[in-house]
Amino acid sequence: MKGIILAGGAGSRLYPLTLVASKQLQPVYDKPMVYYPLTTLIEGGIREICLISTPQDLPRFQQLLGDGAAWGLRIEYREQARPEGIAQAFLIAASFIGPDAVTLILGDNVFYGGESFQKTFGEFNTGATIFGYHVKDPERYGVVEFDASGQAISIQEKPKEPKSNYAVPGLYLFDNHVVEITRNLKPSARGELEITDVNVEYMRRGLLRVRRLGRGFAWLDAGTSSSLHEASAYVQTIEKRQGIKIGCPEEAAFRRNFLSLAQLESLAEKMPRCEYREYLVNEVIAEAKRLAN
Ligand code: DAU
Repeated sequence: MKGIILAGGAGSRLYPLTLVASKQLQPVYDKPMVYYPLTTLIEGGIREICLISTPQDLPRFQQLLGDGAAWGLRIEYREQARPEGIAQAFLIAASFIGPDAVTLILGDNVFYGGESFQKTFGEFNTGATIFGYHVKDPERYGVVEFDASGQAISIQEKPKEPKSNYAVPGLYLFDNHVVEITRNLKPSARGELEITDVNVEYMRRGLLRVRRLGRGFAWLDAGTSSSLHEASAYVQTIEKRQGIKIGCPEEAAFRRNFLSLAQLESLAEKMPRCEYREYLVNEVIAEAKRLAN
């Protein structure tokens, strides 16, 4: 399974924050926003990742994440010249995807909780798997409707009259047919290749699974000033209360065995003295050493 992080877009909703740094580089509490989706992919066991962004912003992401080798990953970069739709990611990254299945995650989506969520990646085989998450304002999202037996029966992009409260979060697992499906898509009225149209096509073929994310699972999108602030407040609350970090790629890579303990220690040593380093040294590394003895 390959992974794509889509981190482009105009960033207009966060202006003037986005004048010099793109949305996905803004802080969500104590880390750049892109760390969160990156960590979700790592937790799902994905090591080969392609990050797509605008020509202006791509160098900044490269500066931040490099080639991924330090974290036991391989990260490639591709440009999206204009924001012509989320599904365009599959065309831009077609050579990266090759013959494999692929997970797409939006660079401004934060997921937290539930180990069964991570298992979805390991269990994925064919077709498509997406998620449904109960929200108060479904009209802002792709909306999935279920029948009485829990079967998904329709998906609509930002409907004026939503048929349910279940939004589709920005995390999609597809088999390799996604490239061919996207090649045959027509741009929507707003001129974009819509991810919802890809999902609708999988549904038409009878190959779409929609997993409902239950209570206690957090999905936050940090696409507006308010939701960015709320995401930061949420992360801060959990981190302070539990003494763990959300969205820490080094920790996730270590727990997935992409990094050895010695490699993690050497990464931490190279960091300046800061709270982030203290967390890795005093919590993650110390705990691993305790358990090894
Ligand atoms: O957050 C989940 C929602 O994301 C889904 O429920 C919707 O079905 C899906 O269309 C999308 O809705 P948004 O209104 O959030 O899409 P937006 O245009 O804001 O794009 C989402 C992210 O993807 C944003 O961070 C920018 C990036 N993006 C978007 C487009 C259209 C790109 O990098 N390139 C693009 O061409």
